[in-house]
Amino acid sequence: GKVAVLMGGHSAEREVSIMSGTGVLNALKSQGVDAHRFDPSERDLGELVRDGYARCFIALHGRYGEDGTVQGALELLRMPYTGSGVMASSIAMDKIMTKRIWRFEGLPTPDWRMVSSAEETRSALAALGAPMIVKPAREGSTIGLTKVTSVEQCDAAFALAAQCDPEVLCEEFVAGDETTCPVLGEGAGAEALPVIRIVAPEGNYDYRNKYFTDVTQYHCPSGLPEAEEREIRRIVVQAFRTLGCSGWGRADVMVRKTDRKPFLLEINTSPGMTGHSLVPMSAQAAGISYEQLCLWLVAQAAL
Ligand code: DAL
Ligand code: MG
Repeated sequence: GKVAVLMGGHSAEREVSIMSGTGVLNALKSQGVDAHRFDPSERDLGELVRDGYARCFIALHGRYGEDGTVQGALELLRMPYTGSGVMASSIAMDKIMTKRIWRFEGLPTPDWRMVSSAEETRSALAALGAPMIVKPAREGSTIGLTKVTSVEQCDAAFALAAQCDPEVLCEEFVAGDETTCPVLGEGAGAEALPVIRIVAPEGNYDYRNKYFTDVTQYHCPSGLPEAEEREIRRIVVQAFRTLGCSGWGRADVMVRKTDRKPFLLEINTSPGMTGHSLVPMSAQAAGISYEQLCLWLVAQAAL
């Protein structure tokens, strides 16, 4: 049947979503799928039913796309969709809720404080030490994030993050290797793909260096010792299952320089599928082409 590729949407990551969705749409069409672009910021989701769509590929990122809201609307419409369900999407969108669950389950995640003012941000810096990451609880692609190295930066860092989300998170900075690892599947069948090690200039893997420059280096195979790679893949699958994620996702993990311990930062439940994106890169290393990945995800689409 007809497949709608949901892309665009209302979030700050709209531009990224259009790049992801365009890639997915072209890949599905190239494989003979009757796929069409559908932007929920331009059209009512109810038209999916009226226009006879059989299922949806969610290529939306961030709010109203990755946070359980679209997933809930599709449930009501009885329209199968790719990726995690309502609850896992909404928990994974919220970095604070995510970290609470991981900590409760004994999974390693950097220490943090939830803050509601510049003053609390300064107290968090005193408690966590510098450098510290200040970021919105529910945002993506590094938008609204500041690496704070001194108390003078706290006010501006809080204000920037609070512009994106009233919930702001201060997180201990883990110095070391920046890695990311996709997971495909569900429950006991969830499996990690190869780890990617990311080397950005001066560790600055920000919005520009994610999508619009060619200065970031991606290593896949990661070049990490086999035991480290295995440990990352192990905790990432646990992190995914603990949040109740399904279909696919990508966990971001920092490996601490001093003792080589991996720390989970977050799970993206609707990972980027742009030309620079990481899930396709890792899948490729596992022998899964971009087209195969898209077809597999559509076949997995469920309610
Ligand atoms: N939030 C972006 C799309 C990603 O994680 O790939
Ligand atoms: Mg993210």
